[in-house]
Amino acid sequence: MTATSCEPVRICSSEELIDGGDGIRRKAADKSGEASVFFVRYDGKPFGYLNRCAHVPMELDWSEGKFFESSGLYLMCATHGAIYEPDTGRCVGGPCRGARLRKIEVTERDTPDGPAVFWLPDGDLRPA
Ligand code: FES
Repeated sequence: MTATSCEPVRICSSEELIDGGDGIRRKAADKSGEASVFFVRYDGKPFGYLNRCAHVPMELDWSEGKFFESSGLYLMCATHGAIYEPDTGRCVGGPCRGARLRKIEVTERDTPDGPAVFWLPDGDLRPA
């Protein structure tokens, strides 16, 4: 896969992405350079975001893949505790309330190996 490709990128099998459980990270690139994106499942559906807090541009997970806070209802930034709705990326508590994570397109589809989660990159944020 080239850096300019926008073909779907297989992230994991559907069963690997557990509702309210650990997220899956992938390296990415945007105009500011290296970045990472992450994928979580919430309320049965997969969601993906740029791994960059809306408060200070830092990754959310200190502990790799730990994006949900203990209730499993919100994503939380480990640095200053901003909490985000997993389905919208909107910050609903903490220092950047009202701001949003940068959402990425995610789809889930059947494959010959079983159902899987795919990232649909756009031109601005793509696999590294
Ligand atoms: S860097 Fe995320 S809450 Fe401050």
